[in-house]
Amino acid sequence: MALDTAHSAFTLDRPADACAPRARTAEPVTPPFTFTPALKRELAPLYERVKHVVTPMEWVHYAPLVKAINELKVKRNAVILAHNYMTPEIFHCVGDFRGDSLQLAKEASRTDADVIVQAGVHFMAETSKLLSPDKTVLIPDPLAGCSLAASITPEDVRALRAAYPGVPIVTYVNTSAAVKAECDITCTSSNAVKIVESLGAPRVLLIPDEYLAKYVQTKTKVEIIAWKGHCEVHERFTGEEMEAMRAAEPGLKIIAHPECPPDVIAASDFTGSTAAMIDWVKTKRPPKVVLVTECSMASNVAAEAPDVEFIRPCNLCPHMKRISLEKIYEALLYNRYEVTVDAGVAEKARRAVERMVEASA
Ligand code: 13P
Ligand code: SF4
Repeated sequence: MALDTAHSAFTLDRPADACAPRARTAEPVTPPFTFTPALKRELAPLYERVKHVVTPMEWVHYAPLVKAINELKVKRNAVILAHNYMTPEIFHCVGDFRGDSLQLAKEASRTDADVIVQAGVHFMAETSKLLSPDKTVLIPDPLAGCSLAASITPEDVRALRAAYPGVPIVTYVNTSAAVKAECDITCTSSNAVKIVESLGAPRVLLIPDEYLAKYVQTKTKVEIIAWKGHCEVHERFTGEEMEAMRAAEPGLKIIAHPECPPDVIAASDFTGSTAAMIDWVKTKRPPKVVLVTECSMASNVAAEAPDVEFIRPCNLCPHMKRISLEKIYEALLYNRYEVTVDAGVAEKARRAVERMVEASA
């Protein structure tokens, strides 16, 4: 694999200009409900879903917000797209659609709701806007970015195009719409190999995640040219850590996301997107497993698989963790923060995303 180090660009994480942060209210959020015995009874079926991972004390705080959000959703004809990294009270109690980046992108294109609240990070909300241009797309915290999206700019992609004339450019969805607009097609961690091979080219640029590119290289004969972006959560895991866990926990199954470094993937029993990791655990039901990815996902799966023991090296994504029930409630109440994409950028970026959706159908 030829690594493109000359063009590597690490920048501070930042939201896209289209969604610059605005002034926030300083007052604490007060939902219109308090935790009463009646509310407890009414929401008992929802608590049942999370009782293994949410304590009764936490539920006293969450339940009024859950009820208020679910009422506002009906009032505004809104849906909440919840990424697998959301905390369990969001994922299981207010999320209408749950899944990995690809599943959420597909749901965004199918929904007939007026409002989409993206319980995820900014690039996911932009993708929803690209696929649902007539809908209002809200991100509860506009600073929910992504180190991969921040690692590459449209100028970087143009420079790559000039340096590798005729070589198709595949971008991971973890990029801004402006970067997608410069690329031929997008991919996610669940379809990257398929998308690369669908192009019928001997060489492909796969940006910006170096480790995803290296992983794809192990699965295809197409020559992959990578960028030097990394996920700040997954790059922290190490192969030694995996070996130490295996030694300490006999029978442990190690399931890793392809954003992890190659030595972590080499030490794992299975590698796949967040959705593929969840399916693996639900299908195989290993007695003991470690999900080598963002920490909240284990809580979400544990809520549904209490028979599985989860070993938890807890790396949290600081961007995903900006999303809370309070902020989702405020998003629906005050219609904020609306995500918009410049029309010229949107047209080109949408083409790249739609090509992926068609190729992975
Ligand atoms: P998935 O597409 O596998 O959900 O990954 C998105 C992501 O941001 C992982 O860090
Ligand atoms: Fe980005 Fe990594 Fe967070 Fe996923 S976990 S949103 S790739 S920083």
